[in-house]
Amino acid sequence: MVCTSTRALALLGTSLLIAAACGKEEVASASASATATESDSGAATDTTDAATTDGSESDSGVDAAPTWHQQIAPIVAESCSGCHRDSGIAPFSLTTYEESAPWALLLADSVERGAMPPFLATDTPECQPRHGWIDDLRLSDEQAGLLRAWADAGAPEGDPATAAPLPQPPQLDLVDPDIRLTIPTPVTVSGNGDKFLCFSIDPGLDADAWVDGLQISAGNPKIVHHVLVYVDEDAQSADLIGPDGSYPCFGGPGVGNASLIGAWAPGMPAFNTPPDTAFRIPAGARIIMNMHYHPTGAEEVDDSSAVELRYHPSIPANLALLALIGNAHNSGAGLLPGPGDSGSPQFKIPAGAVDHTESMSIRLDDIPDLRVWSAGTHLHYVGTDMVAGIRRAAPQPGEPESECFVHTPNWNFNWQRAYVYDAPLAEAPVVRAGDEIVMRCTYNNSMSNPYVVQALAEQGLGAPVDVYLGEETLDEMCLGIFGVAINLADLF
Ligand code: HEC
Repeated sequence: MVCTSTRALALLGTSLLIAAACGKEEVASASASATATESDSGAATDTTDAATTDGSESDSGVDAAPTWHQQIAPIVAESCSGCHRDSGIAPFSLTTYEESAPWALLLADSVERGAMPPFLATDTPECQPRHGWIDDLRLSDEQAGLLRAWADAGAPEGDPATAAPLPQPPQLDLVDPDIRLTIPTPVTVSGNGDKFLCFSIDPGLDADAWVDGLQISAGNPKIVHHVLVYVDEDAQSADLIGPDGSYPCFGGPGVGNASLIGAWAPGMPAFNTPPDTAFRIPAGARIIMNMHYHPTGAEEVDDSSAVELRYHPSIPANLALLALIGNAHNSGAGLLPGPGDSGSPQFKIPAGAVDHTESMSIRLDDIPDLRVWSAGTHLHYVGTDMVAGIRRAAPQPGEPESECFVHTPNWNFNWQRAYVYDAPLAEAPVVRAGDEIVMRCTYNNSMSNPYVVQALAEQGLGAPVDVYLGEETLDEMCLGIFGVAINLADLF
């Protein structure tokens, strides 16, 4: 059984929260959960007045100004319209010239600010991951320049008769799901207190299943703050549920033997494992949907949050796991000395601190070889930047001694996702026993951080407070979330 053999993973040391297939760890803190705001949504109201001219740019000398049908529509179709379309997750549609032209200046601006398209992983001087990312939404400098030139020229339409062909936007939805598990009872929230609850759902498996793709959807995005999906190995959650199918829980699954297989926060597309690699759901296991609702003040209902799963047709070569590594709270757990520590290292972000850092180095012992196929960062509202990588104890030939996995230098709580390497598993970075995962998180705990201002306001506070490691609105984290694959042969 996979279960016993992955025990090694559950022994990875106290600071390491790892969602091993049979781990006993409470993945609780992984999930985090600042309350605070749904912030940016609907931001498209105060916008620009980019004139919707009709392609009459020729007499100004800037006769090379890009036009919608020739240069701009293909960019927008590929990088924006996947979300900015009717019934997409974005607040306004960008599928036609008429829809897009009025926003031209705002579009160029959002791209230059790095706000859109939402994709936080960035190559930086200190972090150049060895592979690019699947579904990388980012625009090239040239494409961003074309958007700017188009906006500055007054958003000319160009000639529809000679329109450039439109590329398909990346597929953000799960292809060929096998089963959809929906919350069994509607949830109503109102007022301003956050609501956490877990639904326990029976996927009806009488044999082990393997999952190679999943997609979580928020039934009512106005109030669903985030969703975590766990496999409850021994169906313990069945004993906890009330008549509505739910039980109270906070950041974690509320049962011992559960492993995280997916998470949703705004912007999260479907999650696919690499070929021949899958999460395991044992026969009889239940699926837990940990729901975090953040009310808007008005009464709102969620009656359709769901997770869709795609089953792998056979036993794969590799077991997929989500490894949650970080959140070291003291030096024994891997926290390194940092600014403001008095005596031994302490995870504390003093009120008012700008550019405060907490760094960790977490050594993994007693593990099988892990291939890292995806990497994500997780902070709350005070966080501004996180970088994660590895320092190898005994690099193999051709393998770097240290290597960066992912850097999100413009952290935004509202846009979290797992970044998946665009490379075969055999070329993914390997973590072996004795290696250290190194992480550095940066925080701005001052009123110059708009998210801090918002979070304080929600708590009725007028000035920053000292922030510690934890799960509440004004607590922080420094957590790496890594999709790893373990060759099943290595587990026996
Ligand atoms: C993954 C989905 C997604 C993609 C892809 C995407 N957007 Fe958005 N966009 C959103 C959502 C959701 C919002 C509203 C929430 C927010 O502002 O974060 C938004 C808001 C905006 C806004 C208003 C807020 C702001 O920051 O100015 C602009 C402008 C915008 N998008 C432009 C673009 C452009 C241009 C592209 C393509 C280059 C793009 N978006 C791609 C989802 C997306």
